[in-house]
Amino acid sequence: QLADSLFIINNFARDYFVQTMFDTEEGQNVGLSYFEERGFSEEIVRKFQLGYSLDKRDAFVKAAQAKGYNQEYLLKTGLIAIRNELPQDNYRGRVIFPIHNQSGKVLGFGARILVKSDRAPKYINSPENDIYVKSKVLYGTYFARHSIDRLDECLLVEGYTDVISLHQAGIENVVASSGTSLTTDQLRLIKKYTNNLTILYDGDNAGVKAALRGLDMAIEEGLNVKLALIPDKEDPDSYVRKIGAEAFRNFIAENKQDFILFKLQVSLREAGNDPTKKSQLVNEIAETISRIDKVEDFTKQQDYIRQCSQLLKIDEQGMVTLVNKYIR
Ligand code: UTP
Ligand code: MN
Ligand code: MN
Ligand code: MN
Ligand code: MN
Repeated sequence: QLADSLFIINNFARDYFVQTMFDTEEGQNVGLSYFEERGFSEEIVRKFQLGYSLDKRDAFVKAAQAKGYNQEYLLKTGLIAIRNELPQDNYRGRVIFPIHNQSGKVLGFGARILVKSDRAPKYINSPENDIYVKSKVLYGTYFARHSIDRLDECLLVEGYTDVISLHQAGIENVVASSGTSLTTDQLRLIKKYTNNLTILYDGDNAGVKAALRGLDMAIEEGLNVKLALIPDKEDPDSYVRKIGAEAFRNFIAENKQDFILFKLQVSLREAGNDPTKKSQLVNEIAETISRIDKVEDFTKQQDYIRQCSQLLKIDEQGMVTLVNKYIR
Protein backbone atom coordinates (compact mmCIF):
# COMPACT_ATOMS: atom_id res chain seq x y z
CA GLN A 1 0.00 0.00 0.00
CA LEU A 2 2.67 2.51 1.04
CA ALA A 3 4.95 1.08 -1.65
CA ASP A 4 2.24 1.57 -4.29
CA SER A 5 1.76 5.18 -3.24
CA LEU A 6 5.49 5.88 -3.44
CA PHE A 7 5.65 4.40 -6.95
CA ILE A 8 2.68 6.53 -8.04
CA ILE A 9 4.31 9.69 -6.71
CA ASN A 10 7.70 8.89 -8.30
CA ASN A 11 5.99 8.14 -11.59
CA PHE A 12 4.24 11.49 -11.47
CA ALA A 13 7.46 13.28 -10.51
CA ARG A 14 9.37 11.64 -13.35
CA ASP A 15 6.77 12.84 -15.88
CA TYR A 16 6.69 16.26 -14.26
CA PHE A 17 10.48 16.75 -14.48
CA VAL A 18 10.60 15.53 -18.10
CA GLN A 19 7.77 17.88 -19.05
CA THR A 20 9.37 20.75 -17.18
CA MET A 21 12.57 20.28 -19.12
CA PHE A 22 11.02 20.05 -22.58
CA ASP A 23 8.05 22.37 -22.21
CA THR A 24 9.28 25.34 -20.17
CA GLU A 25 11.71 28.06 -21.14
CA GLU A 26 13.86 27.55 -18.05
CA GLY A 27 13.81 23.81 -18.64
CA GLN A 28 15.06 24.17 -22.19
CA ASN A 29 17.56 26.94 -21.53
CA VAL A 30 19.04 25.44 -18.39
CA GLY A 31 18.24 21.72 -18.16
CA LEU A 32 18.22 20.58 -21.78
CA SER A 33 21.19 22.84 -22.61
CA TYR A 34 23.14 21.24 -19.79
CA PHE A 35 22.66 17.80 -21.31
CA GLU A 36 23.37 19.10 -24.81
CA GLU A 37 26.64 20.63 -23.63
CA ARG A 38 27.60 17.28 -22.16
CA GLY A 39 27.03 15.74 -25.56
CA PHE A 40 23.89 13.79 -24.69
CA SER A 41 21.56 13.39 -27.67
CA GLU A 42 17.85 14.15 -27.30
CA GLU A 43 17.19 10.48 -28.01
CA ILE A 44 19.30 9.33 -25.08
CA VAL A 45 17.86 12.03 -22.80
CA ARG A 46 14.37 10.77 -23.65
CA LYS A 47 15.32 7.13 -23.25
CA PHE A 48 16.71 7.61 -19.74
CA GLN A 49 13.80 9.94 -18.90
CA LEU A 50 16.14 12.70 -17.74
CA GLY A 51 14.49 15.86 -16.52
CA TYR A 52 14.85 19.22 -14.84
CA SER A 53 13.55 20.69 -11.59
CA LEU A 54 12.78 24.40 -11.76
CA ASP A 55 14.82 26.76 -9.61
CA LYS A 56 11.75 27.70 -7.59
CA ARG A 57 10.86 27.13 -3.95
CA ASP A 58 7.77 25.01 -4.37
CA ALA A 59 6.89 24.42 -8.02
CA PHE A 60 6.82 20.64 -7.58
CA VAL A 61 5.10 20.89 -4.18
CA LYS A 62 2.25 22.78 -5.84
CA ALA A 63 1.94 20.33 -8.71
CA ALA A 64 1.88 17.40 -6.29
CA GLN A 65 -0.66 19.08 -4.02
CA ALA A 66 -2.90 19.72 -7.00
CA LYS A 67 -2.88 15.98 -7.60
CA GLY A 68 -3.93 15.47 -3.99
CA TYR A 69 -0.88 13.48 -2.92
CA ASN A 70 -0.46 12.85 0.77
CA GLN A 71 2.28 15.06 2.26
CA GLU A 72 3.61 12.32 4.50
CA TYR A 73 4.25 10.12 1.44
CA LEU A 74 5.75 13.00 -0.49
CA LEU A 75 8.21 13.51 2.36
CA LYS A 76 9.16 9.83 2.28
CA THR A 77 10.15 10.06 -1.39
CA GLY A 78 12.57 12.88 -0.60
CA LEU A 79 11.11 14.95 -3.42
CA ILE A 80 10.07 17.58 -0.89
CA ALA A 81 11.28 18.60 2.56
CA ILE A 82 9.92 20.84 5.27
CA ARG A 83 11.92 24.05 5.58
CA ASN A 84 10.82 26.99 7.74
CA GLU A 85 7.74 24.93 8.50
CA LEU A 86 6.74 24.85 4.84
CA PRO A 87 6.97 22.06 2.28
CA GLN A 88 9.58 22.93 -0.33
CA ASP A 89 11.17 21.36 -3.40
CA ASN A 90 14.30 19.39 -2.69
CA TYR A 91 15.93 19.30 -6.12
CA ARG A 92 15.52 22.87 -7.27
CA GLY A 93 17.60 24.01 -10.18
CA ARG A 94 19.00 20.49 -10.68
CA VAL A 95 18.89 18.03 -13.56
CA ILE A 96 17.14 14.79 -12.71
CA PHE A 97 18.17 11.16 -13.27
CA PRO A 98 15.35 8.70 -12.47
CA ILE A 99 16.51 5.40 -10.96
CA HIS A 100 14.50 2.43 -12.26
CA ASN A 101 13.97 -1.09 -11.02
CA GLN A 102 14.35 -4.07 -13.36
CA SER A 103 10.86 -3.60 -14.75
CA GLY A 104 11.20 0.13 -15.35
CA LYS A 105 9.34 1.50 -12.35
CA VAL A 106 10.89 4.56 -10.73
CA LEU A 107 12.44 3.81 -7.34
CA GLY A 108 13.96 7.22 -6.78
CA PHE A 109 16.11 9.95 -8.29
CA GLY A 110 19.59 11.36 -8.49
CA ALA A 111 19.56 15.15 -8.85
CA ARG A 112 22.73 16.83 -10.13
CA ILE A 113 23.72 20.40 -9.48
CA LEU A 114 24.50 22.33 -12.70
CA VAL A 115 27.69 23.99 -11.56
CA LYS A 116 29.93 22.33 -9.00
CA SER A 117 30.04 24.16 -5.69
CA ASP A 118 31.66 23.75 -2.28
CA ARG A 119 28.42 24.59 -0.54
CA ALA A 120 26.16 21.90 -1.99
CA PRO A 121 26.63 18.22 -2.86
CA LYS A 122 27.04 17.38 -6.56
CA TYR A 123 24.26 14.82 -6.45
CA ILE A 124 21.32 14.63 -4.08
CA ASN A 125 19.90 11.11 -4.11
CA SER A 126 16.56 9.83 -2.86
CA PRO A 127 16.58 8.63 0.74
CA GLU A 128 15.94 4.97 1.42
CA ASN A 129 12.30 4.09 1.89
CA ASP A 130 9.90 1.19 1.35
CA ILE A 131 10.73 0.96 -2.36
CA TYR A 132 14.29 2.31 -2.60
CA VAL A 133 16.92 0.17 -0.91
CA LYS A 134 20.29 1.31 -2.26
CA SER A 135 22.12 -1.93 -1.55
CA LYS A 136 19.76 -3.84 -3.85
CA VAL A 137 19.80 -1.47 -6.82
CA LEU A 138 22.20 -1.00 -9.72
CA TYR A 139 21.55 2.04 -11.87
CA GLY A 140 20.70 1.16 -15.46
CA THR A 141 19.64 -2.47 -14.99
CA TYR A 142 16.33 -1.87 -16.74
CA PHE A 143 18.05 -0.57 -19.87
CA ALA A 144 20.92 -3.05 -19.77
CA ARG A 145 19.36 -6.40 -18.96
CA HIS A 146 18.68 -7.66 -22.51
CA SER A 147 22.13 -6.64 -23.70
CA ILE A 148 23.80 -8.24 -20.65
CA ASP A 149 21.93 -11.43 -21.35
CA ARG A 150 22.76 -11.43 -25.04
CA LEU A 151 26.47 -10.63 -24.62
CA ASP A 152 26.74 -12.72 -21.44
CA GLU A 153 28.76 -9.97 -19.80
CA CYS A 154 27.96 -7.07 -17.49
CA LEU A 155 30.09 -3.93 -17.38
CA LEU A 156 30.14 -2.10 -14.07
CA VAL A 157 30.88 1.64 -13.87
CA GLU A 158 30.76 4.18 -11.05
CA GLY A 159 28.25 6.79 -12.17
CA TYR A 160 24.92 7.62 -13.79
CA THR A 161 26.52 9.54 -16.63
CA ASP A 162 28.94 6.71 -17.39
CA VAL A 163 25.99 4.39 -18.05
CA ILE A 164 24.23 6.93 -20.25
CA SER A 165 27.28 7.89 -22.33
CA LEU A 166 28.16 4.26 -22.99
CA HIS A 167 24.59 3.59 -24.14
CA GLN A 168 24.87 6.50 -26.51
CA ALA A 169 28.07 4.93 -27.82
CA GLY A 170 26.19 1.69 -28.44
CA ILE A 171 27.53 -0.14 -25.38
CA GLU A 172 24.38 -1.16 -23.52
CA ASN A 173 25.43 -3.98 -21.18
CA VAL A 174 26.39 -1.55 -18.43
CA VAL A 175 25.19 -0.73 -14.91
CA ALA A 176 26.48 1.62 -12.19
CA SER A 177 27.14 1.07 -8.52
CA SER A 178 26.44 4.81 -8.01
CA GLY A 179 29.55 5.55 -6.05
CA THR A 180 29.05 2.99 -3.28
CA SER A 181 30.86 -0.28 -2.74
CA LEU A 182 29.25 -3.40 -4.17
CA THR A 183 26.91 -5.49 -2.06
CA THR A 184 26.03 -9.18 -2.22
CA ASP A 185 22.50 -8.31 -3.30
CA GLN A 186 23.82 -6.27 -6.23
CA LEU A 187 26.09 -9.13 -7.30
CA ARG A 188 23.16 -11.53 -7.17
CA LEU A 189 21.18 -9.14 -9.36
CA ILE A 190 23.99 -9.32 -11.95
CA LYS A 191 24.09 -13.10 -11.63
CA LYS A 192 20.48 -13.32 -12.77
CA TYR A 193 21.72 -12.27 -16.20
CA THR A 194 25.36 -13.38 -16.47
CA ASN A 195 28.35 -14.88 -14.65
CA ASN A 196 30.80 -12.49 -16.29
CA LEU A 197 31.45 -9.15 -14.62
CA THR A 198 33.85 -6.55 -15.98
CA ILE A 199 34.63 -3.65 -13.71
CA LEU A 200 35.41 -0.32 -15.40
CA TYR A 201 36.40 1.94 -12.56
CA ASP A 202 38.48 5.09 -12.53
CA GLY A 203 42.21 4.45 -12.64
CA ASP A 204 42.80 6.54 -9.50
CA ASN A 205 43.52 4.97 -6.11
CA ALA A 206 39.94 5.35 -4.93
CA GLY A 207 38.66 3.49 -7.95
CA VAL A 208 41.11 0.59 -7.53
CA LYS A 209 40.37 0.33 -3.79
CA ALA A 210 36.62 0.33 -4.41
CA ALA A 211 37.02 -2.39 -7.01
CA LEU A 212 39.20 -4.55 -4.75
CA ARG A 213 36.66 -4.35 -1.94
CA GLY A 214 34.08 -6.12 -4.07
CA LEU A 215 36.36 -8.90 -5.29
CA ASP A 216 36.07 -11.62 -2.64
CA MET A 217 32.31 -11.19 -2.50
CA ALA A 218 32.02 -11.46 -6.26
CA ILE A 219 34.10 -14.62 -6.36
CA GLU A 220 32.00 -16.12 -3.60
CA GLU A 221 28.92 -15.48 -5.73
CA GLY A 222 30.54 -17.45 -8.53
CA LEU A 223 31.19 -14.52 -10.84
CA ASN A 224 34.17 -14.37 -13.19
CA VAL A 225 35.55 -10.92 -12.53
CA LYS A 226 37.66 -8.91 -14.95
CA LEU A 227 38.85 -5.37 -14.72
CA ALA A 228 39.90 -2.60 -17.05
CA LEU A 229 41.14 0.58 -15.45
CA ILE A 230 40.14 3.82 -17.14
CA PRO A 231 43.14 6.21 -17.56
CA ASP A 232 43.79 8.74 -14.82
CA LYS A 233 41.56 11.84 -14.64
CA GLU A 234 38.98 10.20 -16.91
CA ASP A 235 35.84 8.18 -16.31
CA PRO A 236 34.02 6.02 -18.88
CA ASP A 237 31.79 8.98 -19.80
CA SER A 238 34.60 11.45 -20.44
CA TYR A 239 36.85 8.82 -22.01
CA VAL A 240 34.35 7.49 -24.53
CA ARG A 241 33.57 11.06 -25.56
CA LYS A 242 37.27 11.80 -25.90
CA ILE A 243 38.32 8.78 -27.99
CA GLY A 244 35.04 7.63 -29.57
CA ALA A 245 33.01 4.44 -29.37
CA GLU A 246 35.22 2.23 -31.53
CA ALA A 247 38.47 3.15 -29.77
CA PHE A 248 36.75 2.74 -26.41
CA ARG A 249 35.69 -0.81 -27.27
CA ASN A 250 39.23 -1.61 -28.36
CA PHE A 251 40.64 -0.11 -25.20
CA ILE A 252 38.45 -2.34 -23.05
CA ALA A 253 39.24 -5.43 -25.09
CA GLU A 254 42.98 -4.80 -24.88
CA ASN A 255 43.11 -3.78 -21.22
CA LYS A 256 40.69 -6.24 -19.69
CA GLN A 257 42.53 -8.43 -17.23
CA ASP A 258 41.68 -11.16 -14.79
CA PHE A 259 40.89 -9.63 -11.45
CA ILE A 260 42.55 -12.16 -9.16
CA LEU A 261 45.79 -11.89 -11.11
CA PHE A 262 45.46 -8.10 -11.08
CA LYS A 263 45.07 -8.10 -7.30
CA LEU A 264 48.11 -10.32 -6.96
CA GLN A 265 50.24 -8.03 -9.11
CA VAL A 266 49.17 -4.92 -7.18
CA SER A 267 49.98 -6.61 -3.86
CA LEU A 268 53.28 -8.04 -5.11
CA ARG A 269 54.41 -4.58 -6.08
CA GLU A 270 53.47 -3.28 -2.63
CA ALA A 271 55.16 -6.14 -0.78
CA GLY A 272 58.48 -5.73 -2.58
CA ASN A 273 61.16 -7.85 -0.89
CA ASP A 274 59.62 -7.81 2.58
CA PRO A 275 59.25 -11.50 3.60
CA THR A 276 56.57 -10.84 6.22
CA LYS A 277 54.45 -8.92 3.73
CA LYS A 278 54.97 -11.57 1.11
CA SER A 279 53.87 -14.37 3.41
CA GLN A 280 50.78 -12.35 4.34
CA LEU A 281 50.08 -11.88 0.66
CA VAL A 282 50.40 -15.59 -0.07
CA ASN A 283 47.80 -16.25 2.60
CA GLU A 284 45.45 -13.57 1.29
CA ILE A 285 45.59 -14.94 -2.24
CA ALA A 286 45.08 -18.50 -1.00
CA GLU A 287 42.02 -17.28 0.85
CA THR A 288 40.65 -15.56 -2.25
CA ILE A 289 41.23 -18.69 -4.36
CA SER A 290 39.55 -20.82 -1.70
CA ARG A 291 36.35 -18.89 -2.31
CA ILE A 292 35.99 -20.31 -5.80
CA ASP A 293 33.45 -23.08 -5.57
CA LYS A 294 35.48 -26.26 -5.91
CA VAL A 295 32.49 -28.37 -6.89
CA GLU A 296 31.26 -26.06 -9.63
CA ASP A 297 34.60 -24.74 -10.79
CA PHE A 298 37.32 -27.25 -10.02
CA THR A 299 39.46 -26.51 -13.07
CA LYS A 300 39.11 -22.80 -12.51
CA GLN A 301 40.49 -23.14 -9.00
CA GLN A 302 43.33 -25.33 -10.28
CA ASP A 303 44.22 -22.76 -12.93
CA TYR A 304 44.43 -19.97 -10.38
CA ILE A 305 46.57 -22.06 -8.06
CA ARG A 306 48.99 -22.72 -10.92
CA GLN A 307 49.15 -19.15 -12.19
CA CYS A 308 49.39 -17.56 -8.76
CA SER A 309 52.13 -19.87 -7.47
CA GLN A 310 54.14 -19.03 -10.57
CA LEU A 311 53.71 -15.29 -10.05
CA LEU A 312 54.57 -15.67 -6.36
CA LYS A 313 57.48 -18.03 -7.16
CA ILE A 314 56.29 -20.59 -4.64
CA ASP A 315 55.67 -24.32 -4.74
CA GLU A 316 52.36 -25.26 -6.36
CA GLN A 317 51.67 -28.17 -4.00
CA GLY A 318 52.25 -25.87 -1.02
CA MET A 319 49.65 -23.50 -2.46
CA VAL A 320 47.16 -26.36 -2.83
CA THR A 321 47.57 -27.23 0.86
CA LEU A 322 47.17 -23.60 1.89
CA VAL A 323 44.05 -23.11 -0.23
CA ASN A 324 42.49 -26.24 1.24
CA LYS A 325 43.16 -24.89 4.72
CA TYR A 326 40.91 -21.94 3.93
CA ILE A 327 38.03 -23.92 2.43
CA ARG A 328 35.17 -23.92 4.88
P1 UTP B 1 31.43 10.93 -9.73
O1 UTP B 1 31.91 12.02 -8.86
O2 UTP B 1 32.41 10.15 -10.51
O3 UTP B 1 30.31 11.58 -10.65
O4 UTP B 1 30.58 9.95 -8.81
P2 UTP B 1 29.98 11.29 -12.19
O5 UTP B 1 29.06 10.11 -12.24
O6 UTP B 1 31.23 11.24 -12.99
O7 UTP B 1 29.09 12.53 -12.54
P3 UTP B 1 29.45 13.80 -13.45
O8 UTP B 1 30.10 13.30 -14.69
O9 UTP B 1 30.35 14.70 -12.65
O10 UTP B 1 28.12 14.41 -13.68
C1 UTP B 1 30.14 8.68 -9.25
C2 UTP B 1 28.75 8.42 -8.72
O11 UTP B 1 28.74 8.54 -7.31
C3 UTP B 1 27.49 9.06 -6.86
C4 UTP B 1 26.63 9.24 -8.10
O12 UTP B 1 25.86 8.08 -8.30
C5 UTP B 1 27.68 9.40 -9.19
O13 UTP B 1 27.17 9.09 -10.47
N1 UTP B 1 27.67 10.38 -6.19
C6 UTP B 1 28.71 11.20 -6.47
C7 UTP B 1 26.71 10.77 -5.29
O14 UTP B 1 25.74 10.04 -5.02
N2 UTP B 1 26.81 11.99 -4.70
C8 UTP B 1 27.83 12.86 -4.99
O15 UTP B 1 27.86 13.99 -4.45
C9 UTP B 1 28.81 12.43 -5.89
MN1 MN C 1 22.63 -15.27 -19.51
MN1 MN D 1 36.85 8.65 -9.06
MN1 MN E 1 31.82 12.04 -14.89
MN1 MN F 1 32.95 9.88 -12.54
